[in-house]
Amino acid sequence: MREKIIVWLNNNVSPKRIKHILGVEQMSIDLAKKHDCDVELAAKAGLMHDLAKFFPPKKLLKIAKENNLPLDDITEKHPHLIHAEISSIVAQQEFGISNHLILEAISNHTLGRPEMSKLSCILFIADKLEVSRGDTPELNDMRKVSEENLYKGLAMVCNYSLCYLLKSNQLIHPRTILTRNWALSSQN
Ligand SMILES: [Fe+2]
Ligand SMILES: [Fe+2]
Repeated sequence: MREKIIVWLNNNVSPKRIKHILGVEQMSIDLAKKHDCDVELAAKAGLMHDLAKFFPPKKLLKIAKENNLPLDDITEKHPHLIHAEISSIVAQQEFGISNHLILEAISNHTLGRPEMSKLSCILFIADKLEVSRGDTPELNDMRKVSEENLYKGLAMVCNYSLCYLLKSNQLIHPRTILTRNWALSSQN
């Protein structure tokens, strides 16, 4: 199964993105071990989270409509934001994935979702902190905290992503803020 997915990725995403995907797979495995989550599910979610990363906007919207995926003003104008949900659909259609935890984690990896599962939190964090994202003190600090306290790490990652979006003058989807507020309230 893993080999089949990697062959598919080689044909559909850039070599740089494959490096990121393998980094996410590994970090998801590591976090799953630390936080008592199913390692096999974490590995699969990591490997398949960005299947649709390079689909053009029209293709993303077409698949969304075919599958009755709800869109809003922001995602209609910026279809790249739904590459997560579309990756989950591709995982079902291309690789027969039916496990809801895997599919939800893939769907939630960009914007998150309040009350999302532990597996979703792990993938969300791994996507932002995997090794090829860099070696800055800030990233390393978030990696350390995420190993020790998943929800504290999640809140830090949400703040980090929001700061990046503000600094780079990018649109912020309301779900990003809802996820961040939920992460703050989930820390202990
Ligand atoms: Fe992604
Ligand atoms: Fe990613």
